Amino acid sequence: MKHLLSAKDLSHDEAVMVLDTAEAMAATQRHAVKKLPTLRGKTVVNLFFEDSTRTRLSFEAAAKRLSADVINFSAKGSSVSKGESLKDTAQTIMAMGADAVVVRHSACGAAHLLAHAGWIDVPVLNAGDGTHQHPTQALLDAMTLRRWYTPGGPASGSARADDGGPAPRGRDLEGARVIIVGDVLHSRVARSNVDLLTTLGAHVTLVAPPTLLPVGMDDWPCDVSYDFDAAIAAVEPDAVMMLRVQRERMSAAGGGYFPSPGEYSRGYGLGAVRRAAMPEHAIVMHPGPMNRGLEITADAADDPRSRVVEQVGNGVSVRMAALYLLLADEGNQL
Ligand code: NCD
Repeated sequence: MKHLLSAKDLSHDEAVMVLDTAEAMAATQRHAVKKLPTLRGKTVVNLFFEDSTRTRLSFEAAAKRLSADVINFSAKGSSVSKGESLKDTAQTIMAMGADAVVVRHSACGAAHLLAHAGWIDVPVLNAGDGTHQHPTQALLDAMTLRRWYTPGGPASGSARADDGGPAPRGRDLEGARVIIVGDVLHSRVARSNVDLLTTLGAHVTLVAPPTLLPVGMDDWPCDVSYDFDAAIAAVEPDAVMMLRVQRERMSAAGGGYFPSPGEYSRGYGLGAVRRAAMPEHAIVMHPGPMNRGLEITADAADDPRSRVVEQVGNGVSVRMAALYLLLADEGNQL
């Protein structure tokens, strides 16, 4: 694989290989000197046309930990605001000698276009395109789940004994039960996770109000429910992943996705009562940024079973793995 554009493109064995590589990268991050010489002399360009905190910072940290040079481009304050096209921006970046491009864009398909339009000839890593795909987010979520989840049933008590430690090589998520809740309609995180987690053997249930589900979900390999409480009882999840309500993608005129924030929270928010209804061992996940008080209460976000901060840390390891596998001198290994 030359590019990392969609979680759908990863086979089971490729996904496990990226996760194993991410664990190897994580191990190096516990050393006093975190830097590896692997990508010395290479330049990674971060092309961000949409806002980002975690993804941009962790791609930058990942590239730097591998000793690559990093050029950060953000559309705000650039010639994009003067009307420059994606093609001209890409070619400008290439003229500066990029060896890989990480791109986030509000348009679905932007990463694919950049990879295949013939404007540039280096690996493209999709850091989120519109509501479509966000493959490294799904990989970091899978890494977080894999670190905790034991196939064949959860350990008794609150968590596995080696909770937070590296997952055994070659492990997948066979049998894991994951509920993903909230604004599925606008969520590239949900789409990418349905693709990747099911490839790895997990069972995924999406929970959302009907207005926040896309049409034409018949071919999605997951269950769908409108009732969060019923889903918790029926699925007995190993993990509950909350999604941000993406107000910036809800047009001001269209407004009516849910009656009021309070009603959304009552139906689809995670707070103390639902957390208590989840199995004792289940973990809480959220890709961030969180709307505390809307889709998740502060209690649930800061609960000992919350893995939100761990997810961010795993994001650096997964992005190091992806850059390494696509760019290292040993040749493309994905
Ligand atoms: C997500 C994104 O940008 O798609 N965030 C992230 O990458 N950490 C989810 C979101 O913005 O809600």
